[in-house]
Amino acid sequence: MATPYTTNNAGIPVESDEHSLTVGPDGPILLQDHYLIEKMAQFNRERVPERVVHAKGSGAYGRFEVTNDVSQFTRADLFQPGRRTEMLARFSTVAGEQGSPDTWRDPRGFALKFYTEHGNYDLVGNNTPVFFVRDTIKFQDFIRSQKRRPDNGLRDNDMQWDFWTLSPESAHQVTWLMGDRGIPKSYRHMNGYGSHTYMWINGAGTKFWVKYHFKTDQGIDFLTQADADTLAGENADYHRQDLWESIDRGEHPSWTLYVQVMPFEDAADYRFNPFDLTKVWPHGDYPLIEVGRMTLDRNPEDFFVHIEQAAFEPANMVPGIGPSPDKMLLGRLFSYPDTHRYRIGPNYAQLPPNRPHSPVNSYAKDGPMRYEPANTGAPYAPNSYGGPAASPQAYGEIAGWQAAGEMVREAYALHAEDDDFGQPGTMVREVLDDAARERLVGNVAGHLRDGVSAPVLERALTYWRSIDQGIGDRIAAAVKS
Ligand code: NDP
Ligand code: HEM
Repeated sequence: MATPYTTNNAGIPVESDEHSLTVGPDGPILLQDHYLIEKMAQFNRERVPERVVHAKGSGAYGRFEVTNDVSQFTRADLFQPGRRTEMLARFSTVAGEQGSPDTWRDPRGFALKFYTEHGNYDLVGNNTPVFFVRDTIKFQDFIRSQKRRPDNGLRDNDMQWDFWTLSPESAHQVTWLMGDRGIPKSYRHMNGYGSHTYMWINGAGTKFWVKYHFKTDQGIDFLTQADADTLAGENADYHRQDLWESIDRGEHPSWTLYVQVMPFEDAADYRFNPFDLTKVWPHGDYPLIEVGRMTLDRNPEDFFVHIEQAAFEPANMVPGIGPSPDKMLLGRLFSYPDTHRYRIGPNYAQLPPNRPHSPVNSYAKDGPMRYEPANTGAPYAPNSYGGPAASPQAYGEIAGWQAAGEMVREAYALHAEDDDFGQPGTMVREVLDDAARERLVGNVAGHLRDGVSAPVLERALTYWRSIDQGIGDRIAAAVKS
């Protein structure tokens, strides 16, 4: 096949990619070299702002296939028996910038977009079932404590432990983070969790509370701190490369989705607050129910177009699925579309990874970079010219709950076993084995030895002794050794 000729962005053949247009070989460059100017100007505008968190990530397209009948719990199209839904996944670290090493200790993002028949369903979770804080108003402070100092531009363990020890609700997530799962072997070897509690509504309008668990079919595996440190120097893109190459050679990673389902009425007096993002629902209370399998089988043809411009938003919930009173989730419903408008522009929903595969009949129009025509006819609702009309029948039951009371700024009402250290204590004592506990002690001690000031260190040791006296004593001894 003949080599195609180069064109400029308007499709016009270009004369040279080697030489600018000058007056004589040594002469000044001419303003009329429109192609040269286009090249320089285009280059200067190649970057969009990186995500304020989860900047370093990778992703792929795939499919979700239902393997079990859960229609008694939800009418959501994508979870109906026999359904197969196209999807996109993006995995990421949280605190690092775009070029940062994949193997830094950090939770991993597990963001999914399902192109359902009723629009996009985005489940924007992490590889952990809990989080560091339980109220949206603390998220910005938490992230600043993990990122870089304003003065020297360095990350700082003192800031991290200062925030964590002043925020005891972080104990569960910090225990998880400092354990083996804080550095997965690859994106393929980690679980994904919806983390928040969500609402499911079935065809009869009955409501349930659910938690999502995507269990890796590749098996959980991790890197030791030492291996991760070496890899961070040798190949900052270790996880990106692994995901790309495994899909490229036809080894398509998959995850089996399970849900825990809580009857709507159980929430009121469950032993833990079921909407508190720092808590799990023990499997013994609400066992896992299989739903289906997600398989990633297609690499993006252009990383920027499909992965950098991917815009996930927890507010994208389709009929049959809704939010819960989780104060973190409710804050996130606002935050994501807001940042997308800033990061990639107000018409981000029209870009290839974000475009629904089902019809869009919205009344949105105009704005920068819009290329899908607006609804023809009357650009307002209601109208008498046949424009789309909102349909309570199409949407179904409102995903709501009863709410009444004084306006307050208060923590959740306590449930019988709500406390910050109970569940992480259970993890340390009952879930980890001796070798995992030993690695946990080593990981925490190594972190605490690196730039943590004396008062913060004292608080950190008290924090660990509150999780488990024995593990706290061992960490104290290891820090001093
Ligand atoms: P279970 O024994 O039924 O579950 C324990 C779970 O812990 C496992 O199923 C596994 O989750 C997870 N796990 C195993 N090793 C590690 C590790 N190194 N780091 C983090 N998680 C690990 O007990 P419960 O359900 O009663 O939970 C006990 C404790 O386990 C909780 O307090 C919580 O700290 C932790 N946990 C519980 C989860 C839940 O949803 N119930 C999920 C994850 C952790 P998985 O099967 O998802 O891989
Ligand atoms: C990314 C805000 C909590 C998972 C982001 C982004 C913002 C944000 C602004 C950048 C999005 C972008 O530029 O595309 C918040 C706020 C939170 C919160 C305000 C708390 C109130 C959480 C929690 C989870 C989570 C609890 C997981 C359970 C993610 C993931 C991404 C992300 C996976 C990356 C999405 C992608 O791959 O594009 N978050 N976040 N966030 N967040 Fe959160």
